[in-house]
Amino acid sequence: MRQENIKKALTEAKIYGPDSERYLKQEKSLTRYLEREYKTYLNNPITLESTGVSTVEGPIMDQTEDLMDVHYDETIELFMGFLDTRYRAYTMAYYGTNGDDKISLETAQYQKFRLIAERAQIQGNEKILNIGCGFGSLETYLLQEYPGIEIVGITPSKVQITYLKEKMQDSTHPLSNRFTLIEDVFDEAIVDKLGLAQYDLIISIGVFEQLLNMKLMLELISKLLRTNGRSFHHFITSQVVTPQVKLNEKTVIGKYFPGGRIWPRDEFSRHTEHLDLVNTWFVNGKNYWQTLDEWHHRYWKSIPSLYCDDFNLDAIRHWNEYFLLCKAMFSPLDGTFYGNSHYLFCLKP
Ligand SMILES: C[S@@+](CC[C@H](N)C(=O)[O-])C[C@H]1O[C@@H](n2cnc3c(N)ncnc32)[C@H](O)[C@@H]1O
Repeated sequence: MRQENIKKALTEAKIYGPDSERYLKQEKSLTRYLEREYKTYLNNPITLESTGVSTVEGPIMDQTEDLMDVHYDETIELFMGFLDTRYRAYTMAYYGTNGDDKISLETAQYQKFRLIAERAQIQGNEKILNIGCGFGSLETYLLQEYPGIEIVGITPSKVQITYLKEKMQDSTHPLSNRFTLIEDVFDEAIVDKLGLAQYDLIISIGVFEQLLNMKLMLELISKLLRTNGRSFHHFITSQVVTPQVKLNEKTVIGKYFPGGRIWPRDEFSRHTEHLDLVNTWFVNGKNYWQTLDEWHHRYWKSIPSLYCDDFNLDAIRHWNEYFLLCKAMFSPLDGTFYGNSHYLFCLKP
């Protein structure tokens, strides 16, 4: 389809690009609505118990198969069409304390990994396990920066596995050396594959939004860590408990992430039965707004090539709305309500 015909078809279907007046109006009004909701949550605090969600019962994570089908096993072209070209990171980049430095997505992703390496106290000689490794973004950063690091990544996504295996075969790519891929879900059975007490550091970036049983997760991590081992986690959190802790079709982004949770910031740090908490940090949500805005622009530009064989308006609407909803979610209250939290734990002596 020719460029001008694509434009016409999108406008007729009322699908608007990130710079259009109609889109900006939609985003502004949704942001205003959410800001009012967030203020209600702040002014009328509720407990996690009152939402019926437990952090100590059930499996570590669930609905992983649905999640892969609905989200992570979309086409590789889709993800390559909007992620940064340097790391292919599929989580928030870091644009500075207030999330507004004028830097490229690639530089902001580099800054995110640098911040994480500093907070996780990486020395450069560790054996690291990365739960939910995506397209190997953290691995690519660490293998480039630290010649002494060894890293194992785990993901059940077929699309990510195919991508990673291709890079592992390419001798010019950082993933071709000192990187091991585990094609699996992360649950109790993983101990048989990985062995007890094998890792100096266990990391997850943008994965514990799928976590259900915090107690079981941290117990499992403690079994995999060596003496003096550490564990560092980065995931989306809310300032206070919201009625939508558990994502479902009725919540703004539930249909994109089956089985997801958005935990209140303080919850994870309470689980110190198996590990000691060293520190926690909050990263302002405007960083996610900026990242999503850049992804949205890149996605919009990729539409002609992504859908040249199958001009699928439903798919375009689905992904365009995804960026709209996520952007509106992070921007209210100057990024203080939803953002990412960082948690550093260490093995008990
Ligand atoms: C938002 S992506 C983040 C990817 C990567 N950490 C990054 O920063 O680019 C979430 C990752 O978690 C993985 N994941 C989801 N559920 C999982 C599970 N039960 N076990 C292991 N990995 C899982 C997905 O396959 C994906 O790689």
